[in-house]
Amino acid sequence: MGKIRTAVVGLNMGLAHAHAFKKSERSDLRWVVDLDESKAAKTAEELGCNYTTDWTKILDDVDAVSLCTPHHLHAPQALQAIAAGKHVLLEKPLANSEDDCLSVVQAAEHKGVTLMMAYVVRYLPAIRILKEAVDSGKYGKPISAQVWVQGFLNPMPGTWFASKEKLGGGVLFSHGCHYIDILLYLLGEPARVAQFGTRVGTEWMEGEGTSHGIIEFKSGALAHLVSSWGMKYTNTPAICQIHLTEGMLQLNSDLWTVEAVTGKGTTTLFERPQELESSIDVNVAFEIEHFLQCIETGNRPETDGHEALKSHRTIWAMDSSAGVQVTL
Ligand SMILES: NC(=O)c1ccc[n+]([C@@H]2O[C@H](COP(=O)([O-])OP(=O)(O)OC[C@H]3O[C@@H](n4cnc5c(N)ncnc54)[C@H](O)[C@@H]3O)[C@@H](O)[C@H]2O)c1
Repeated sequence: MGKIRTAVVGLNMGLAHAHAFKKSERSDLRWVVDLDESKAAKTAEELGCNYTTDWTKILDDVDAVSLCTPHHLHAPQALQAIAAGKHVLLEKPLANSEDDCLSVVQAAEHKGVTLMMAYVVRYLPAIRILKEAVDSGKYGKPISAQVWVQGFLNPMPGTWFASKEKLGGGVLFSHGCHYIDILLYLLGEPARVAQFGTRVGTEWMEGEGTSHGIIEFKSGALAHLVSSWGMKYTNTPAICQIHLTEGMLQLNSDLWTVEAVTGKGTTTLFERPQELESSIDVNVAFEIEHFLQCIETGNRPETDGHEALKSHRTIWAMDSSAGVQVTL
């Protein structure tokens, strides 16, 4: 098989995809696409490829396309690319409704093309190390996990981020989905969920800008995820801490350092190799390689459509949990 002819549609988050496709020996980056012609032209010049504002015109010239566009466009664009027989890497989330997700998954299976969710965090080396440590039993049984995904987005009223329908929900669905995926990956199947969201501090968004979610796993372990686009000032201890019966495992906020705390003290299980810089381009390169390898081998991506649906269904169940009214 020769190099896989690739294209990237949507050049904000998609810039990292384009750089990774350009760097990969498996890929021939042929097109970058954006509605903003100057952005597309600038990226094309930098990366030495073609550009256009109409992504449908490139389909004859590529084998695979990376869709990094607003969420409400994921399903229609993925369906069009799949119908043309193209492998699809789709930025998260897969689509904004279960029906749309299932249509995309079924279309890819029917056409025999690779469909992968760009869950960038899942492919980071530190997550592999964390998974091995949890599964090893060395630290005992998981009791409780906490995740803090706290940041601040400058208000963007009137954009697709502000629209609940276009975003597909609020911060939990849009950004928290990475970490719901990670929690299910690390701790297994969920049994019960709950969630509260608020728009306080992010009134420009129709969906919640701050969310507290809880998962009870079938194992009995619990997880709590705080996700926010409204927190200007943060000082979180880590991205993730997992307390187990014989230790505590921590993924630091750099997304690289994994530490284990036990009665013997703190041990660093993994750190960023010095030759790798800390950048979104480096992080995205891991998922891009996996996508290209799956196309070459025909293997299912680890984050295929079915796997993506697990995290999405968990979030939709969280969204519909009502809580109990308090009367004092
Ligand atoms: N994995 C991550 O950590 C991460 C981070 C940010 C965004 N994302 C995801 O990336 C996707 C895009 O988000 P973003 O923040 O880059 O959005 P954005 O709105 O900042 O950028 C989207 C780009 O797509 C272009 N675009 C829109 N419709 C298009 C079309 N039909 N054809 C060609 N170009 C089109 C826009 O002009 C814009 O440049 C979303 O799925 C988002 O969830 C992922």
